[in-house]
Amino acid sequence: MHHFLAVTDFTLEQAQEVFTLAKSFKDNRLSGPQPLNMQSWGLLFYKSSTRTRVSFEVGVNELGGFPIVLNSQQTQIGRGETVEDSSKVLSRFLHGLVIRAYEHETVTEFAKHATMPIINGLTDFNHPCQLMADLFTLLERYSPEDVDINTLKGKKVAFLGDSACNMANSWILSAAMFGMEIFVSGPKGYEPKPAVTEALKAAGLPVNFTYTEDPKEACKDADCIYTDVWVSMGDEAEAEQRLKEMAPYQVNAELLALAKQDAYFMHCLPAHAGEEVSQDVLDSPKSIIFDEAENRLHAQKAIMAKLVELNS
Ligand code: CP
Ligand code: NVA
Repeated sequence: MHHFLAVTDFTLEQAQEVFTLAKSFKDNRLSGPQPLNMQSWGLLFYKSSTRTRVSFEVGVNELGGFPIVLNSQQTQIGRGETVEDSSKVLSRFLHGLVIRAYEHETVTEFAKHATMPIINGLTDFNHPCQLMADLFTLLERYSPEDVDINTLKGKKVAFLGDSACNMANSWILSAAMFGMEIFVSGPKGYEPKPAVTEALKAAGLPVNFTYTEDPKEACKDADCIYTDVWVSMGDEAEAEQRLKEMAPYQVNAELLALAKQDAYFMHCLPAHAGEEVSQDVLDSPKSIIFDEAENRLHAQKAIMAKLVELNS
């Protein structure tokens, strides 16, 4: 069974096909193919969500399927039913399952026992659907005709803030896969953890990301500056300390000015203006945050369609 738990679960060729498909779904939003016809897909959330939930629910519908949104606490999982049994039972009803969880092991354990494709809708380790949408958003600009992944090669991405969070990990993995240069910059104590290096090695990718405490070094001549909240879901108890320590890493006009003239500002959202990013940067012409959000829909439709094809 082919699952999608990390960007590296697709080959480069498959990723290109997903981006090409995403473009065609975007160009023909309500008149495209419906490979989920008569299928029921579950969307299981252990954490809050706006974009992931709505984009998948709309996407399953537009592909001809029926989405079922589940809050883990309102299922028997919340009362202790094991992931193994839950996965086996849900596999008897559903044709695919998107999961947003805390531990990454929750989705890998679901995948181990599932006889339907599992899609990672965010874990504490990574957020691959967001990355596919983000890369597609860049490809629309670098290669509007054919969203050619080769146009990503050599581009410099600066990721600022919590350099150990799921979005930082996702960018480190994606940069290695697509030949981009990545600088991650945040305070000591929030540098990338060994798990991301292990994931790179397991995927046969080079371990050549740069971690720096100097946000200026990261942003200098960057093609894209990316940030994420300083307090991810699950980190709330450390909020005060995190906000204090990460303050020098706010993406503001001064840092953005160090990037290339035609650089983009990106953020997975939700954003906290005045914390990880200033309001003027969010509103600047370089900011492509709402295109990223919209592209969740088109990219995820393509991911689901590709998984159906790969598993048929
Ligand atoms: N970016 C993202 O995944 O947003 P949600 O938490 O709203 O799903
Ligand atoms: N790092 C954030 C991403 C939200 C989409 C979190 O995990 O809360």
